[in-house]
Amino acid sequence: MCHGSLVQRTISAHGAANPARQDAVPTQRMRETPHKSGRDARHPYGKLMRMNAAMQIPVWSDDLLLHDDRTDETHREFMKLLRSSFMATDSNRLDRYQKLLEHTVEHFGQEDRWMLATGMDDGNCHSKDHAMILETMREVEKRALAGDTSFIPVMNQALAQWFPDHAKTKDAGLTEYLREVNFNTADETLADPSTAALNPHGGCGTQKACA
Ligand SMILES: [Fe+2]
Ligand SMILES: [Fe+2]
Repeated sequence: MCHGSLVQRTISAHGAANPARQDAVPTQRMRETPHKSGRDARHPYGKLMRMNAAMQIPVWSDDLLLHDDRTDETHREFMKLLRSSFMATDSNRLDRYQKLLEHTVEHFGQEDRWMLATGMDDGNCHSKDHAMILETMREVEKRALAGDTSFIPVMNQALAQWFPDHAKTKDAGLTEYLREVNFNTADETLADPSTAALNPHGGCGTQKACA
C-alpha cells in the first residue's frame, strides 16, 4: 500500500486533520511547545495546531535500523532534521523545514537511483511513494514562502506517522533486495550488472517492499 494519501490529506482544501496515532513513532515527551504563536488560537486550523502542540516529537530508535550503513545514516539524519523541524519556533520554522526538505530530496533520490541501477523502472510503487511525499512537502514550502507556515507542523506530524512504516516495509524490502543482488550502496556498484535485467520491472522488487 502506498501512503502518499496520508500526507496529501494534511494539506487538502480544508486543511483536513490527519488522525494522530500517537504511538506511531518512537517518541519522547515534549518539553517545548513547537508552535507557540498566539495566532494559533485564531487560526482556522487552530484545533489541529493545538493537537500538534500536544504531540510527542520523533526520536531515532534502533528499531528503525535496516543494517545498511548508508541507508541507516540517511535515516538517522532524516529523523534528526524532522525532530529539529518539530522543535522550530516562528523565527526558524521555514528554515528548518527547508533543511528537512533538502535532505529528503537527497534521501529519496538516493533510493530511487539504487532502484533504477538494479533494474526497477521509475514507476515502481516505492518511487511513487517518494514522489507523492515530495510533492506535498514542496506544496507546504510554497505556502510557507507565501507567508503561511501553519502547514509545516501538520506536515511534520504526517511525516512522523508515515516514516516508520515506510522504512520498515519499502525501505526494508529495498535493502534486502540490494543485498540479494550484491549491490554495494557505499559505491553504488552492482557486482553482476546482468542481474538488473532479471528483476521484474515495475512493482517494488520484493513482496515485502510492496506490503
Ligand atoms: Fe528511506
Ligand atoms: Fe524509501
